[in-house]
Amino acid sequence: MAVASAIPDILSEEHDREPQIAYRHLREEEPVVFHEGSGGWLVTRHADILNILKSKAISSDNYAASIGTVYGRTLLELDGREHQQQRGLIMPLLNRTAIADYQPVVKRVVEALFTPAYEQAVAPVLAGEQEFAEMDIAESYLQAIPISVILEMLDLPRESRSDFIRWFKDLMAFVANVGNDPEAAARGIRARDELAEFVAPLIAARRANPGNDLVSQMCSNEIEGETLTDDEVRSFITLMVVAGGETTDRALGMVMLNLLRHPDQLAAVRADRSLVANAFVETLRYSAPVNIASRTTIADLELDGVTIPDGSVIHCLLGAGNRDPRKFSTPEVFDIFRTDNNVERGFSGGADHLGFANGRHFCVGAALSKAEVENGVNLILDNMKELRLSEGFVPQETGLWTRGVDNLRVTFKPA
Ligand code: HEM
Repeated sequence: MAVASAIPDILSEEHDREPQIAYRHLREEEPVVFHEGSGGWLVTRHADILNILKSKAISSDNYAASIGTVYGRTLLELDGREHQQQRGLIMPLLNRTAIADYQPVVKRVVEALFTPAYEQAVAPVLAGEQEFAEMDIAESYLQAIPISVILEMLDLPRESRSDFIRWFKDLMAFVANVGNDPEAAARGIRARDELAEFVAPLIAARRANPGNDLVSQMCSNEIEGETLTDDEVRSFITLMVVAGGETTDRALGMVMLNLLRHPDQLAAVRADRSLVANAFVETLRYSAPVNIASRTTIADLELDGVTIPDGSVIHCLLGAGNRDPRKFSTPEVFDIFRTDNNVERGFSGGADHLGFANGRHFCVGAALSKAEVENGVNLILDNMKELRLSEGFVPQETGLWTRGVDNLRVTFKPA
């Protein structure tokens, strides 16, 4: 059995600082290799990952034992007809047409988050005390967008936002708890139970008195006479909060960081806002907010001359496939104008990048995340000129499963 070697272990702090060192080595030297620490197989080439994600003969029920423990039974762990049916109930609520209707909601929520943080940051400039304003756009603005939008779409009380943030952070920490810290495990279970307790009466109320919100729609949507059960609705709310929260928050920060690191591309996006979508699609490739999609084999699988035995867990390293030179020219370059990462197809199963994974579990929140990124970035560009990273500030990208920045200090003049 081939075993990953001679590189920073993917669970190490060294890897966390610069994952592309290991990704490059694995992709070129050991594209299919067993990884002792996670007990799974690492796959790093774009074509191999795509084949796995699209294969009908590979399952995702590995998520039942990890994510399923705290999210409940969600789309992610389902296969076959059951998956198709549940996805068919959810997809119409989040596809492009549905999200077009939610545009005003996204815009309103994003503006409400931006305005107070911005006003506080520019006050010293307007008072003539400073020439430039400073703001941590990740911490004081971008990070709050996804969870606030989701709560609004689900029509959950705004006062519960801080509880939801705590729950989603504790649920994420449970899933990412590779070191098996008992404290983190206990917090995850507690978050699961508190969230379930919060959501149960809400589902009952929406069934009795449906509104226009997503929870009511989830309760009433029907396919072939089937509707979602209370447990399924609760699991999907949990999945939306976590899958839609942490991921888009990581993406928003990285879109801005990539543009700030490439001032010519930032200027191009400022001048032509249709390019925000290009910057997002290129960020999904260059700085994948979600780095791993895992699967289980249900028969022996031959890949690049290696046999992965039946019943094995495979970790598709999306961040490695996204920099595969077999698929992308100059893959180590961030370039919003590249022609091999198509923007129109970038939010569908035809995407070149692997940022939303692919195949039947392709992210159902792609259109929503695009609306959030476009609104979030446009407000920054509308209001901040001469925008750059603050002097002396060194952005820290962290995270294995999801990856991004917690802080992003910028300097600007009010527009
Ligand atoms: C930039 C933001 C986002 C990224 C990078 C992202 C990434 C992903 C990835 C990689 C997967 C596939 C996981 C796998 O196959 O193992 C996925 C699935 C999923 N995502 Fe997203 N996501 C984002 C935003 C969202 C949003 C906003 C929502 C919800 C409102 C959402 C909901 C989901 C759901 C429900 C699935 C499971 C689909 C299925 O199993 O059929 N995501 N996402």
